[in-house]
Amino acid sequence: MPNHKHIPFGIMLQGPGSHMNSWRHPASLADASVNLRYYIETIQKAEAAGIAFAFVADGLYINAKTIPIHLNRFEPLTILSALATVTSRIGLAGTVSTTYSDPFTVARQFASLDLISGGRAGWNVVTSPLEGSALNFGRSQAVQHPPHPERYRIAREYLEVAKGLWDSWDDDAFVRDRATGQFFDPAKLHALGHKGEYFQVEGPLNIQRSPQGQPVIFQAGSSDDGIDLAGQHADAVFTHATAVQEGVQFRERVRKRATAHGRAANSVGIYPGAGIVTGRTEAEAEEKYQAIRALVDIEDALRYLGRYFDHHDFTGYRLDAPFPELGEIGRNSFRSTTDHIKRTAAEKKQTLREAALEAATPRTPFVGSAEKVANTLIAWRDAGAADGYILSFPVIREGLADFIELILPLLQARGYFSPVLQGRTLRENLGLPCKTSRYAAQSQPAPV
Ligand SMILES: Cc1cc2nc3c(=O)[nH]c(=O)nc-3n(C[C@H](O)[C@H](O)[C@H](O)COP(=O)(O)O)c2cc1C
Repeated sequence: MPNHKHIPFGIMLQGPGSHMNSWRHPASLADASVNLRYYIETIQKAEAAGIAFAFVADGLYINAKTIPIHLNRFEPLTILSALATVTSRIGLAGTVSTTYSDPFTVARQFASLDLISGGRAGWNVVTSPLEGSALNFGRSQAVQHPPHPERYRIAREYLEVAKGLWDSWDDDAFVRDRATGQFFDPAKLHALGHKGEYFQVEGPLNIQRSPQGQPVIFQAGSSDDGIDLAGQHADAVFTHATAVQEGVQFRERVRKRATAHGRAANSVGIYPGAGIVTGRTEAEAEEKYQAIRALVDIEDALRYLGRYFDHHDFTGYRLDAPFPELGEIGRNSFRSTTDHIKRTAAEKKQTLREAALEAATPRTPFVGSAEKVANTLIAWRDAGAADGYILSFPVIREGLADFIELILPLLQARGYFSPVLQGRTLRENLGLPCKTSRYAAQSQPAPV
């Protein structure tokens, strides 16, 4: 019987860890972000512990100011395809931008990963915050990076196309009857014939449906436009939340948009990022947090903060003056994140120094003793602020080991975690139904 209290966890695989200087930590491998053996070791450890999916973030533009873990890293679908072959249960979610890619190619890549992995693929749909990305995709001026609302309009149409392409073949379309010579049933093949504002895609896709029907769609973006996209298309939203009440309000906003698009209110799972630093006691957790914090100086922290504001240079501002007025700077970039940083700085009356150090090494609600962190994970879940979590560890080797050893047993003892992945597909492990093809759904007999 499924355990309805079970919390599904994803783990961010981001080289040595989520912290910008995690490569310098003694527990890390300095070359972790391009070390295949390390990725295999990490994902196998997560899978053995019952973590439901691995999650690979991405970016499409770097410069000399970019933080180390983003300067040199694997392309998500390539590393996930490699990891698919050394795992059997854990889900594999990768980030691909709808602003700088082509829907036919990407639908095909995810369909391939989904088949290679036996139905374990997930797509983190992002719209690319950094303006410089335009320079890497044949657009000569950074100003050609589409504005924030337009990026979401493109994403909406892009997902319609991708989902349409994934329904190209009915589940049983490939007959492969050697005796009659019939390879496929033409009645079970559907061309898309999409002609829209941004894309013209005839289809069909040249790959069959996977065991989970379609890959799981995650959406990462928390502005009004991002939430609307999630309400229309996503199975789950990856979001930042810093307090349980904020998370509950976020869920309500997602639910409203899901119903506005004719979907069930609870059809979109809420997955806050949980940045975890823990230990047996508060003192031990604090010691680990301080060791991580000591990896950055103020110049590093300003650089880290600047990335959210499209690599804005904060070095010319007074460090101990109140957080500066920035007007529209960065609003075409990580909008929901920059809005949050500005709001927090105003509420907590932070100086620039304080805001930058906090951004570089956030003291999240998930920093503390294992008991405290387990209680917080459960409290958010019970309050409705989280259906599951996407775990990030500032230093993965240290943090994942602590999470498995100290926190999972507490959750298990309280009935919130079972260490064995019950499902074969990612949809099963997230409690999502297999995605029925639109054509199969149309041919269902009408309910009496
Ligand atoms: C939790 C979260 C995770 C994100 N992950 C990525 C990522 O891996 N790669 C990327 O290019 N953008 C990522 N984004 C950026 C969004 O896709 C989007 O481009 C940007 O945040 C602006 O959208 P928003 O204002 O709706 O949040 C992320 C955003 C959020 C909130």
